[in-house]
Amino acid sequence: EEIEWEADAAEKGGYDHYMLKEIHEQPRALRQALSGRVDELAGDVDLDVDLPTEYLDSLEEIQIVACGTSYHAGLYAAQLLERYADVRVSVHVASEYEFGGGRDPWRTLAVAVTQSGETAETLSALREAARAGARTLAVTNTVGSTVTRDADETLYIRAGPEIGVAATKTFVSQVATLALLAVHVGRRRDTIPAADARDVLDAIRGLPGAVQQILDTDSQIREVAREYADSSAFFFIGRKLGHPVALEGALKLKEISYDHAEGFPAGELKHGPLALVTDDTPIIAVLTRGANPDATLNSVKEAESRGAPVIGLSSAGRGDKYADAALSVPDLGVMEPLLANVHMQLLAYHIANAKGRAIDKPRNLAKSVTVE
Ligand code: G6P
Repeated sequence: EEIEWEADAAEKGGYDHYMLKEIHEQPRALRQALSGRVDELAGDVDLDVDLPTEYLDSLEEIQIVACGTSYHAGLYAAQLLERYADVRVSVHVASEYEFGGGRDPWRTLAVAVTQSGETAETLSALREAARAGARTLAVTNTVGSTVTRDADETLYIRAGPEIGVAATKTFVSQVATLALLAVHVGRRRDTIPAADARDVLDAIRGLPGAVQQILDTDSQIREVAREYADSSAFFFIGRKLGHPVALEGALKLKEISYDHAEGFPAGELKHGPLALVTDDTPIIAVLTRGANPDATLNSVKEAESRGAPVIGLSSAGRGDKYADAALSVPDLGVMEPLLANVHMQLLAYHIANAKGRAIDKPRNLAKSVTVE
């Protein structure tokens, strides 16, 4: 018994849960994702994938297929790909995917984002795209997984093994890797100048250090979590790059705390969800660069005037005066919303922990879902 317990604690590296260990492993995971891939001087990215420039030039659409947290990473990446690679991107929940009419398969790249590489629905969607004639790319954490055998090309996120059912370090590694892909494709399509690419790459390379800065404020996040842990529901709002982050924040909280949590684009608050807002429903708002913070502040004010407590995740002190709890996000350009996600991971963790939940193995959930 004793020995088994000690072995378990050792594997968790002194942390109470794998999830917390994995949250703290993020700076390292991100460094691995970037290692050897960034050519700062040239403002370029070297990804070992065979996507010839003439093929990328001819692309009309990138279709991303994924489930759960990986779907949220896909939504973040889609905005970067559209911006830097000037290509239309659609993101599909894999279980809803159809190749769809009006598309030229030869000008379509299908990208499966899957941590495990084994999610049945994601595999089926990618196979459907391949059958239609599209080229396929797998973005995964798992060497030798089924998706790597199915896809034409594979891009690894290199996060290292993730044991906690709730995805944390693999989410940030997916977004970082897909951000590199956006620059890679953009450079080859000549849709992003080297100087702009350098700025984006600077932000990406700043991730490990900036994530560490947030991890260092864990005790403050824990206090906020304890203060609001008993709320009746939680609403996560964000715009632009803050939208997928809000969705992911809500997913994380419901997965491990079993609390009612919803994420939506901030502008939608007034179109329905506002009816649920009370002084017992904290609003967690992404108020960083890349998330249209000024517009989001309007939604924050709407919620606040109904008595809702506001937890603001902001860079440059935006919104601090409206926030009941202000958690600060380091300056990091388009990667700031991703940093806000790290606050949300810790919030979810501490809320769930305060309730004594089975954080690493939430009820009814599995790390990898291999049936449709
Ligand atoms: C399961 C896991 C989620 C994960 C999803 C997709 O539902 O519990 O954490 O996001 O599958 O997994 P994948 O391995 O394809 O990224």
